[in-house]
Amino acid sequence: MGSIGGFGGARGTAVKPEARIPRLAWALTGSGHFFAESLELMRGVADLDVFVSKAAAEVVRMYRDDMKKLPPTARVFRDTTASAAPVGRFYHGDYHTLVVAPATSNTVAKCVVGISDTLATNVFAQAGKCRVPTIVFACDTAPELDTKAPHGMVKVYPRRIDLGNTARLKTFDDVIVVDSLADLERALAARLAWLNASSS
Ligand SMILES: Cc1cc2nc3c(=O)[nH]c(=O)nc-3n(C[C@H](O)[C@H](O)[C@H](O)COP(=O)(O)O)c2cc1C
Repeated sequence: MGSIGGFGGARGTAVKPEARIPRLAWALTGSGHFFAESLELMRGVADLDVFVSKAAAEVVRMYRDDMKKLPPTARVFRDTTASAAPVGRFYHGDYHTLVVAPATSNTVAKCVVGISDTLATNVFAQAGKCRVPTIVFACDTAPELDTKAPHGMVKVYPRRIDLGNTARLKTFDDVIVVDSLADLERALAARLAWLNASSS
């Protein structure tokens, strides 16, 4: 995991802290791998906007979980427009940080080649264009993984292309790719602590 906290000092040039208090943006994709754990982590975050891919909206039901368990202050944006209309918020400095977790192999592959045709990939692209630091928890981090299917644990074997895409994402500016839930928690805590310290 690279440097966390200030991401080398970047805070998002589009952000004007005096204009409004920026929130945390979180893109949720259709990955069963650490889906429940990511939702649990989101439940502890104040001032959260969640961008839900179409697949994530299906997967949440398959795991019998519910977006309604998020804090009442959380705002949920679903993938219902071709233009990904909610991403306009990134241009107005609404977000200090983006988390993409968990990130499917599909979303990671698209992000790596610059495709933005879903809400999650659009949010990632706009965060990059607005210089909003991003933390990605990619699913495909090792050649062999134990993952939770709706009816229990299964083994999956990410392909060379999946692992290669995760590695390529690690080279992006202002992007930190984490390999585990513990690293995601650490990266998020460090980022929030850095923002707190720099605003006081
Ligand atoms: C129950 C279930 C679990 C899934 N888990 C994963 C996963 O762990 N990793 C992954 O890359 N795709 C997983 N998928 C497949 C993705 O949901 C699918 O590729 C989808 O098109 C991704 O869309 P998104 O990247 O826009 O969210 C899962 C699908 C289902 C139905």
